[in-house]
Amino acid sequence: MEPAGDHQDDLQVAVVMVAFPCQSHLNQLLQLSTMIASYGLQIHFVGSATHNRQAKLRSNGLKPNSRIQFHDLPTPPIAALDPDPNASDKLPFHLYPAVQAYANLRKPVLGLVEELSLKTRRVVIIYDRLMFEAVGDAVSVHSVEAYAFNCLSAFTLFFVRWETMGKPFVVEGPLKDPPPATELMPEEVLQLLASRSFKERAGEIHNTSRSIDGTYIDLLSREEISGSSKQQWAIRPTFLQADSTANNDRKPRHKCLEWLDKQAPGSVIYVSFGTTTSFTNEEAREIAIGLEQSKQKFILVLRDADKADIFAAKDRKIELSEGFEERVQENGMVVRDWAPQLEILSHKSTGGFMSHCGWNSCFESLLTGVPVAAWPMHSDQPLNALFLTRVLKTGLLVREWAERKELVTASVIKNVVERLMASEEGVEIRKSAEELSAAIKVSMDEGGEAGCPDMESFISHITR
Ligand SMILES: *[C@@H]1O[C@H](CO)[C@@H](O)[C@H](O)[C@H]1NC(C)=O
Ligand SMILES: *[C@@H]1O[C@H](CO)[C@@H](O)[C@H](O)[C@H]1NC(C)=O
Repeated sequence: MEPAGDHQDDLQVAVVMVAFPCQSHLNQLLQLSTMIASYGLQIHFVGSATHNRQAKLRSNGLKPNSRIQFHDLPTPPIAALDPDPNASDKLPFHLYPAVQAYANLRKPVLGLVEELSLKTRRVVIIYDRLMFEAVGDAVSVHSVEAYAFNCLSAFTLFFVRWETMGKPFVVEGPLKDPPPATELMPEEVLQLLASRSFKERAGEIHNTSRSIDGTYIDLLSREEISGSSKQQWAIRPTFLQADSTANNDRKPRHKCLEWLDKQAPGSVIYVSFGTTTSFTNEEAREIAIGLEQSKQKFILVLRDADKADIFAAKDRKIELSEGFEERVQENGMVVRDWAPQLEILSHKSTGGFMSHCGWNSCFESLLTGVPVAAWPMHSDQPLNALFLTRVLKTGLLVREWAERKELVTASVIKNVVERLMASEEGVEIRKSAEELSAAIKVSMDEGGEAGCPDMESFISHITR
């Protein structure tokens, strides 16, 4: 399915995208940019030179085009701290230098917006919700409208706000008593997620599908939760199929895809923990041994967490026990570079996904109908994991959140992999994952070629 591409250019409305410097956020905003650009709007994507480069290099899905202009705004140098695999929790504090650097964007963003406002009828700012501060001045420019973009599930955003606002009403459904948000993320981040004091905010955009998250989008619209900023758009990908073939003409296929070609349908568990998880060698060894003992086929992605500047220095190599990789050759593969996740999940040989439950990974598992062994680390991940395992029933937990400080041993891994890949329970979970994936695809088809009614409605709204 192709996104709409033949729209007349509309030079009267400029769209400024303010990104948050972390891979999972960068790519989402870039994807949203390409989608909006396909309606003929000019996009101004702002960030540090380093992170703009990162966004382009790793763009996953639609590729940027000439309607997207990147603005490398000046920031102080960004220190590339090493992730600390020994830390007592898995919050990625080593990304803080990038966040601090982005705090300097307030003035340059204002400058850009002022300049654009002279040439256009309206400037639309779409800012990553965590970049609230950086648009603080720009939102008061005449002719500006600002929209928050949420890179997390509506489910998670709702529960965080609901709690922060003192649980103003009773919520029906399977999750009555979520873990306290203060255990999940630092206070500053909670405040950013909960903030509704932003009078100028014209509405919110979510990267999700109403077919799975609709209940929570409606709950978010309630006055008690979102104040006067009630307009909510749910924008989800319209191009799932395009992605798995898009790169093939330029890049050689990744060797793990060749390996997958040779495996039986649904027989492989894909194990990957995103770009912010840093494991100690000991933790990684337990995972590796657990996978080996489960006797299931596996692809294990072992990369250290991204640094604040991914170009600055080489990543630490996570060491498995001597000879592990040769020993398991028949059954498994260890990948240490950037893995083509969506292609792996779309592959017919993939039958399970052990994941940290970042929202991108969750969404991709839901789209492709691959059931999840959920091992959340921090921030929105624990709530996303409960969304998948308890509400949508497309996965099971590797361990309870309350046990997060304990080492996850090989026997825990072995157990959960066997349950997911080779048990009655696993069959049931796989069935619900496949059914849900089919339902999401139907809802995508109903949107027609352009894909997404909320997208159409958002574009009409900002170009009115
Ligand atoms: C939403 O997230 C999915 C999953 O990562 C991604 O493929 C898609 O491009 C994102 N969409 C937007 C509009 O950011
Ligand atoms: C983590 O702890 C191990 C064992 O105590 C030590 O060898 C290693 O250097 C530490 N790593 C870091 C990055 O501090």
